[in-house]
Amino acid sequence: MIGDLHRRLRAATEAAHAGLEHDLGWERRVATVAGYRALLARLRGFHAAYEPAIGAGLADEPFFGPRRRLDRLDADLAYLGLDAAAISCLPFPDTPRLDGPAALGALYVLEGSTLGGQVIGRRIAALHGLTTDGLTYYRAHGPATGAMWSAFRARLETVADEAALTEAAVATFRAMRDWLCADDAATSRAA
Ligand code: HEM
Repeated sequence: MIGDLHRRLRAATEAAHAGLEHDLGWERRVATVAGYRALLARLRGFHAAYEPAIGAGLADEPFFGPRRRLDRLDADLAYLGLDAAAISCLPFPDTPRLDGPAALGALYVLEGSTLGGQVIGRRIAALHGLTTDGLTYYRAHGPATGAMWSAFRARLETVADEAALTEAAVATFRAMRDWLCADDAATSRAA
């Protein structure tokens, strides 16, 4: 059962989701292990910048902790051959300042990405024979995806400042698109 606030938030970010889904070019990028690793490296930068800001803004570790995925990105990158020094040198975008509702708006984008991520993860598993190791970011909540998403949506409905929530979600989609697609353009030009 979808709540009213969630319905409005989804409508307000629908175009941004479609744009990101279109521009990401994920099928092409994950077609090779090297391309998949490069995409994870870029996602790692985004999570490295946003997770601390979301954690500080929400100040609710029992809720946010299980939704953090930076460690998973590091583990997947290590499994795929990047050493710890190389991982710690990966670039990341500007860290946003996010207070309570804005932090939840940014988390909406990262948490929602676990839904489409199930599709992407299945494709990567089929292409590269990965099951758990190397695939923990995209597996995300695995069989608990539905339950985690329901709990997240319930939390959304408690937000008082809907404008701040929505503005942050739209801005996060935009920042993610800029960050993930800029790198892809550079990689494509270099290829
Ligand atoms: C990093 C890129 C992406 C982000 C940040 C993202 C974000 C989101 C968000 C926030 C939602 C929740 C929408 C709602 O409120 O119901 C969502 C849902 C969904 N996304 Fe994405 N998405 C991304 C990429 C993709 C891609 C590439 C696909 C296609 C494979 C995809 C497929 C889906 C699907 C199928 C749903 C709906 C799942 C459901 O309702 O059960 N997404 N995504």
